[in-house]
Amino acid sequence: MTSTTTIPAHHIEITRPDDWHLHLRDGDALKAVAAHSAAQFGRAMIMPNLRPPVVTTGQAVEYRQRILAALPATSEFVPLMTLYLTDHTPPDEIRRARESGIVFGVKLYPAGATTHSDAGVTDLAKCMKTLEAMQHHGLPLLMHGEVTDPAVDIFDREAVFIDRVLRPLRKSLPALKIVFEHITTKEAVQYVKEAEGETGATITAHHLLFNRNALFTGGLCPHYYCLPVLKREENRQALVKAAISGNPRFFAGTDSAPHARGLKENACGCAGCYTALHAVELYAKVFDDNQALPNLEAFLSLNGAAFHGLPHNSGKITLARQDWHIPEALPFGEESVVPLMAGETLPWRKV
Ligand code: DOR
Ligand code: ZN
Repeated sequence: MTSTTTIPAHHIEITRPDDWHLHLRDGDALKAVAAHSAAQFGRAMIMPNLRPPVVTTGQAVEYRQRILAALPATSEFVPLMTLYLTDHTPPDEIRRARESGIVFGVKLYPAGATTHSDAGVTDLAKCMKTLEAMQHHGLPLLMHGEVTDPAVDIFDREAVFIDRVLRPLRKSLPALKIVFEHITTKEAVQYVKEAEGETGATITAHHLLFNRNALFTGGLCPHYYCLPVLKREENRQALVKAAISGNPRFFAGTDSAPHARGLKENACGCAGCYTALHAVELYAKVFDDNQALPNLEAFLSLNGAAFHGLPHNSGKITLARQDWHIPEALPFGEESVVPLMAGETLPWRKV
C-alpha cells in the first residue's frame, strides 16, 4: 500500500497524477480544454476518435504538435498518443508507431459503440495480424469493451463483451497488453482482478460517483449520459472497491469527453461527461468518502505508469480540504461546455 504524504491534516500531497484516458478533441475545442488537463495531470493517453480518426503514426505526430501548441507556454504536460484501430490497420503501422516513441497504445472502438466509432472494428478477427504485431512490439490494446449487437441490452453490453470478445482474445494472444477502459460493471472488476496476462483497467470519476439514477433525477439529465452508460448501484460499489483497493491493475482514466452544451441538451444528446477541469478533486472525494485517501496516490499517480512501463511523474500536487463551487459552464470555442456536477460543491481543491 502506498501512502500519501500528509502536510497539515486538511492537505494532502501526492505525486502528480496521469490521466490514462482523455478526449482533447481538436481546433477551438482543443484550445478550450487542454489547459484544464495540463493543470491537473502530468501526462494523458489521448484518444484518437477525431473526425477523421487518427489512424497513422504520421497523423498522431501532427495531432501531438497541435496539442502542444494549444498548451500554456509554461506547461510540461506530455500527451501520450494513440492510434485508432480499423479493420485495415496494417501490422507495419504498429512497428512505425512503436519506433516513433510518441505512440503508447492502440484504441479498439467496436464499430458503432460510441462517439465517432463508425470507422472502428467490425470484427476483431480481421485485425489478428495487427494485434499480433502489437503483442510483438509491446504496444497495449486500449479497449472500449462493449458489444454493439442491438439484441443485447445497453446495460449488459460490457458484461457480454467479456465473454464474447475479451476471453477469446486473451486466449489467442496471452502476451498482449490489454487495458479494459472505463469499466462500469462488477463483472469487469472481477475479470480484471483474475485475468491472466498483463491486464489493467481504467475507471472514470463519474462511474465512481454516480449510478444510473443520476440520468433520470428530476427529469432527463443529459450531462450524466456517457458510454458505457452509468450502471446500477451494486456496480458502482464494485468499482469503488477496486479503485480504493490499491490493486495495481486499476488506475485513473477520466474519459473526460467535452461536447458543446447544445449537442448535449439536444433531442439526440451526445455521450460524454466533462471532468478535465476537476477530475482529481472528484476522485479525491470518492476516496475520502470511502476512508481511502492513503490509496489515492497509487490509483491516480503510480499504478498506470507502472502498467505502461513508464516512471511516475517527478512533480507533486497538493489538495486542500476546501469547499468550492463547480462552474455552471465553461467557454468552449464559440459555445460552452457544462462540467460534471455543474453548480455543485466539492470538498477538495487542488492548490
Ligand atoms: O461517453 C463517451 N464519450 N464515451 C466514449 O466512448 C466516447 C466519448 C466521446 O468521444 O465523446
Ligand atoms: Zn473515451
